[in-house]
Amino acid sequence: MSDSPISIDQHTLSEEDQSSETKQLLTNTAHHRPLRSFVIRAGRLTTSQKEALDKYWVDYVIEQTKQLLDPEQVFGRKAPLVVEIGFGMGDSLAEMAMANPDKDYIGIEVHRPGVGKLLNTIAVNEITNLRIYCHDAVEILRDCIADHSLAGVQIFFPDPWHKKKHHKRRLIQPAFVEKLTAKLQPGGFIHLATDWQHYAEHMLEVMQANPALHNTAGADTWASHTGRPETKFERRGHRLGHGVWDLVYTFNPPQP
Ligand SMILES: C[S@@+](CC[C@H](N)C(=O)[O-])C[C@H]1O[C@@H](n2cnc3c(N)ncnc32)[C@H](O)[C@@H]1O
Repeated sequence: MSDSPISIDQHTLSEEDQSSETKQLLTNTAHHRPLRSFVIRAGRLTTSQKEALDKYWVDYVIEQTKQLLDPEQVFGRKAPLVVEIGFGMGDSLAEMAMANPDKDYIGIEVHRPGVGKLLNTIAVNEITNLRIYCHDAVEILRDCIADHSLAGVQIFFPDPWHKKKHHKRRLIQPAFVEKLTAKLQPGGFIHLATDWQHYAEHMLEVMQANPALHNTAGADTWASHTGRPETKFERRGHRLGHGVWDLVYTFNPPQP
């Protein structure tokens, strides 16, 4: 990311040069704006999603500040902490949280209707081991999640960004996986799933290139029977005749 202030040496440039140089720097700076893995869709909020956002936000949404999260303070206990990035409508995340009361979960999502939906599910089911960030996960990981603090990270059906010119928007890239890995405790997991074969192959390549990550299914192999609940996006893929590819890696820190 390069949002650094523009500085040009005013003394060494003619007025005309200065203006073209400034334009060029401005253009370059605009091009260096962080490339997001999402676009905020104008999706309409249902009445119950809106009510849930109004009513339950204070109880279950962690406000994004540049402060590190203190999970013990948030959950009132010490337990393995799992982060899910891009939970969509959140049904499968809520199901996992209810099925694993010994773990704590943080869901990160930018899509407000999904956040409203999950808030409702949390409140109706009185789920105590799940909280939400409604913000870009890249920034949450960078600013709020301590290194070596997570038992796992799960990213189910991240936006595939089908067109080649948009592939750089895909979340799963070497630099991002490195950042994820830095957040894991030794033995922690990264669980990915996609219904897009090209992205699945890209994921495998990226994950395999990281020497600290171990494919639990064996080299070049997809994971099967992971036991995770089906997600909404996955159901849509099934209807369209898509396949599903899961990858589960564990983090083994290099020996000194
Ligand atoms: C294709 S949907 C899949 C949703 C859900 N996991 C499912 O399987 O039904 C991808 C989701 O990731 C969210 N997303 C993408 N990039 C994100 C980011 N950087 N931070 C938070 N959420 C993100 C999008 O808003 C979208 O809801």
